[in-house]
Amino acid sequence: MKIWLPLDSAAVALGADDIAAAITQEAAARGLDVTLIRNGSRGMVWLEPLVEIELDGVRHGFGPMESGDVAGLFGDLAAHPKAIGPVDAHPWMAGQTRLTFARVGVIDPFSLEEYRAHGGLKGLERALGMTDAQIVAEVKDSGLRGRGGAGFPTGIKWETVRTAPGPKKYIVCNADEGDSATFADRMLMEGDPFTLIEGMAIAGLATGASKGYVYIRSEYPIAISVMERAVRIARSAGVLGLSMLGTGKSFDMEIRVGAGAYVCGEETSLLNSLEGKRGVVRAKPPLPALQGFMGRPTVVNNVISLASVPVILEKGAAHYRDFGLGRSRGTIPLQIAGNVKYGGLYEVAFGLTLGQIVDQIGGGSASGRPVKAVQVGGPLGAYFPRALFDTPFGYEEFAGKEGLIGHAGLTLFDDRADMLKLARFAMEFCAIESCGKCTPCRIGAVRGVETMDRIAAGDPGAIPLLTDLCNTMKAGSLCALGGFTPYPVMSALTHFPDDFATAREAAE
Ligand SMILES: Cc1cc2nc3c(=O)[nH]c(=O)nc-3n(C[C@H](O)[C@H](O)[C@H](O)COP(=O)(O)O)c2cc1C
Ligand code: SF4
Repeated sequence: MKIWLPLDSAAVALGADDIAAAITQEAAARGLDVTLIRNGSRGMVWLEPLVEIELDGVRHGFGPMESGDVAGLFGDLAAHPKAIGPVDAHPWMAGQTRLTFARVGVIDPFSLEEYRAHGGLKGLERALGMTDAQIVAEVKDSGLRGRGGAGFPTGIKWETVRTAPGPKKYIVCNADEGDSATFADRMLMEGDPFTLIEGMAIAGLATGASKGYVYIRSEYPIAISVMERAVRIARSAGVLGLSMLGTGKSFDMEIRVGAGAYVCGEETSLLNSLEGKRGVVRAKPPLPALQGFMGRPTVVNNVISLASVPVILEKGAAHYRDFGLGRSRGTIPLQIAGNVKYGGLYEVAFGLTLGQIVDQIGGGSASGRPVKAVQVGGPLGAYFPRALFDTPFGYEEFAGKEGLIGHAGLTLFDDRADMLKLARFAMEFCAIESCGKCTPCRIGAVRGVETMDRIAAGDPGAIPLLTDLCNTMKAGSLCALGGFTPYPVMSALTHFPDDFATAREAAE
C-alpha cells in the first residue's frame, strides 16, 4: 500500500507529522506493509494535511486529516468521511495550468528517478547541447519575466551577465520570500527541489557561471533541509559538479540561510548579506549583473523565475509563451491567503480577472462576509476594492491601476477591515524594515506613521500632508521598500475614503 502525505511546512503546521506517526502505528498494528511518501503540497491548503492513496492507478485524496481519521484509511475508502475523490480531478486542480508546479505534490521530492520519469532533466540535457547564446535566446523568446516582483525580463538579465567580462560569475537564487501571503518559493523548494537545481544549472550554462547560491530565509527550516539534501543527491548523481551529466561542463551550488530581514530580499541587500555584511541596499549602478556577488557579474533571480526555465527548455519557448496575456507571458502561481475560504497555490496563465481569482477560485472570504479589499503583491502592494475586480492579472494591467502583482500573493479582507489602520500598518512596516540608507524611507516612514495618527485623530491638515509625503517617498527612495510603500497607503486613501472620514469631515 502506497500513501502520500506532504512534508510541506503548511501541512506540517496543520499536523501532518502526527498523521504520519498515526499511519505508521496503524499499519504496524494491522501488520500491513505501507510505503509512506512525504511529498510536496498540492496547494489546496484548506485540505491539509491531505493524504493520498492510489486506487487502480488513480490517486484519491483524504483531507483535512485528523488523527481520528487515520484508521478509516485502512477500511472502506469510499465511505471515508474525508474522501475528496481523485485529486487531479478536483476542480481546484483541474482548472490549473501547471507548468512550473507540474511535479509539486506528485513526486517524491528526493527521487531523481521519479523526477526524470516526469520530464525532469530534459531541459538541462537540451541546454547542454546548446551554446550559451542559444539558451539565452530561448529564455528571451519565452517572454519569462522575473517572478520576484519587478517583472524584469529574465533573458535580458542573463544576456547582460553572459556578455559581461569576468573570470568568475555567479547565479544567486533569491529565496527570501518575505512578502505577506506568499509561499510559492517555499512550496516549490519543498515539493520539487530538483526543478530549482536544474533551472540554476541552466542559468549557469547560459551565462558562464559555474557557481550558484540559494539564499533561503531562516524561517523556512524544512525548505532549507530539503534543498540541502537535494543538492547532495544531485551532486552524487553527477547532475551537479565538475562534469554535469558527464559532459565536462561544470556547475555546483550551495544553500545559504538568510538573517531575517525583509529588505534582505532586495537583491543588492541580499548580496551584501550573502557576503557576510549588513543587509543594506547598494546604490545602482553598478547593476548586480555587472558587479554583483563579490563584485562579479551575477544573475539574481527569484525561485519561480529559475524554476520556470527547465520546462521552457524542455518544451520550447513557444509552448510557454503561448500562455498569458499581453506582455505577461506564461503562467503565474497565484498564492491566495488572508480571510479566504479556499486558500492555497493556484498556477494559471496570466489573464484571469481579480474577481475570478477572489470569488471563483478563492471562494470569497472564510468568514462568509463580503470581501472589502484585496492586497495584491505583498506589503508594498495596493489594496484593490471590488470596483477594480475586473482588472486582469498581468504586470501592465495592475500597474495601470496604480498597483502591482509583485510575487503574486493576494490577501483578502472582509468588510470589517479598517483601511486607515491597514494604511498605518504599511507605514509602520516600512519604518521597522527600512535599511536606513536613504532619507525618504528612513525618516519618511516614521513621519508617515505620525501623520496617520493625526488623520485618525481627525486632524484636517494631515491628509494633504500624507499625499505629499507619499509622493516624496515614491520619487526619492533608493529602493522599492520606501518607493512602493505609498501604494498600499494611497490605495487605501483613494478607494476607501469612508475609512478616513473623520479627518475628511473635520477638513470640510
Ligand atoms: C524590499 C524588497 C524586498 C524584496 N524581496 C524579494 C524576495 O523576497 N524575493 C524575491 O525574489 N525578490 C524580492 N525583491 C525583488 C529583488 O530585488 C529582485 O528584483 C529579484 O530578486 C530579481 O529576481 P527576478 O528577476 O527573478 O524577479 C525585493 C525587492 C525589494 C525592494
Ligand atoms: S528605500 Fe528604505 S530600504 Fe530602500 S534603500 Fe532607502 S532606506 Fe533602504
